[in-house]
Amino acid sequence: MTEIEKFTRSCIKEMEQSCLELPWEDARTYGDWVAQTYFYVRHATRVLAKAAFRCTIEQEDLHKVFLKGINEEKNHEIMAVNDLKHMGLRLGDYYEYPETSAYYQTLYHLIDYNGPYELLGYFVNLEGLGAIGCDGFYDKIIKSHGEKAASFIKVHARIDARHFQEGIDLLNSLKPEQLKIVRHGLEISTPLYCNMIRRVTQESYKRRTAA
Ligand SMILES: [Fe+2]
Ligand SMILES: [Fe+2]
Repeated sequence: MTEIEKFTRSCIKEMEQSCLELPWEDARTYGDWVAQTYFYVRHATRVLAKAAFRCTIEQEDLHKVFLKGINEEKNHEIMAVNDLKHMGLRLGDYYEYPETSAYYQTLYHLIDYNGPYELLGYFVNLEGLGAIGCDGFYDKIIKSHGEKAASFIKVHARIDARHFQEGIDLLNSLKPEQLKIVRHGLEISTPLYCNMIRRVTQESYKRRTAA
């Protein structure tokens, strides 16, 4: 296993660990996770478009990877909205936490600052969380809230799980100076994602102890 794959897997473990803290069987809490997911996922095609635009003519392969990504990630935020509806919840029941803003807004800046490879670091651990990191809570979600309220996680944990391996294959083909930027993306996005999950956990705890 290459260094970058090892490092990516350790980031996914960290994200998985923070997700395991969430009381997934609680509907309002799962709904909050779905809502926060919606708040950043609606930016996925936009950051992909920004990164695609930032690729030079020499970075044609990467440019095409991002264009394909735009198509694949199109409308994924709608799944999150539908999952909420199936639970009788609405987006308006929630708001975007600053921790969620910090997670995706930094990426807009880093694509300008470090270039398009930064996005790979933000995406590969997240795709990995879906593909190999959600065994500890996937069944809990389905059992507690039903398949119809779990379309987002289902698509990412099952149907789109290949995105993770495709990402790893791409990383394994990169030059050291490109990997340095990817690694930066991994190093910053992992704690930012965990921070967002921690906020959802804290809000859940506050709500349940106040009730
Ligand atoms: Fe997606
Ligand atoms: Fe994906």
